[in-house]
Amino acid sequence: MTTTYETIKEVIHGRRSVRRYDERPVSVDDIKELVDCARYAPSDTNSQTWEFIAVVNRSMIKQIEQLTWDALHAKAQIAEEQGLNKEARMLLKSFGPYATAFSDAPALIVCLATPYTSKFRERIFDPIQLVPTAVWEEEGIKSSCLAIQNLMLAAHAQGLATCPMTGPVLLAADAIKSLLDIPEDRQVNMVLALGYPLETPAKLPRKPVEEILRIIE
Ligand SMILES: Cc1cc2nc3c(=O)[nH]c(=O)nc-3n(C[C@H](O)[C@H](O)[C@H](O)COP(=O)(O)O)c2cc1C
Repeated sequence: MTTTYETIKEVIHGRRSVRRYDERPVSVDDIKELVDCARYAPSDTNSQTWEFIAVVNRSMIKQIEQLTWDALHAKAQIAEEQGLNKEARMLLKSFGPYATAFSDAPALIVCLATPYTSKFRERIFDPIQLVPTAVWEEEGIKSSCLAIQNLMLAAHAQGLATCPMTGPVLLAADAIKSLLDIPEDRQVNMVLALGYPLETPAKLPRKPVEEILRIIE
């Protein structure tokens, strides 16, 4: 009999970043089910600093791809003007396809982080200026990332594939915010390509446990 642990380990180990999708759409009900799993992630004082925008409109996804390419070309031009021709070429040739790997996905989940707010912050932290305001934005990102991982694992367990991506965000966060009417105080954390996989990528090696774990006895 397969134990819960073996099942979850299989899901964790089996998830891959997928960059080629077939045309089959992902239903809104399936997306709601995934977001239901996402929202059970832990968050600082249960602040739930996450929101999701599911773009299932192909022409809108193509527009986001175009915004990303526009930003890539603009950055490449600036680099060229500074004499950084090799870097400009690599930006377009190598990073371009990586930053737009969502282009044939039937769904794109734009994952937002909201600023961390809580009674702690209101009553204690802000009055004593515990940390600079930017730290509260980071705090929101932390919980948002955990929710995104839940979503990706749930998708994989459902036979769907994802690719978490910050490429388009690094390049075109402002343009994406404006296109999707995202309020100023929301951060675009990352975007997730979502769909039925057309490829089975190899499992990429990981650093050995001994290298990333220090035990203090
Ligand atoms: C924060 C973050 C940003 C990423 N950005 C991109 C991206 O812009 N484009 C892309 O194709 N993959 C992106 N990835 C996917 C990684 O390339 C992938 O997770 C890594 O190579 C390991 O492969 P695996 O997910 O199949 O195990 C990103 C992953 C993370 C966690």
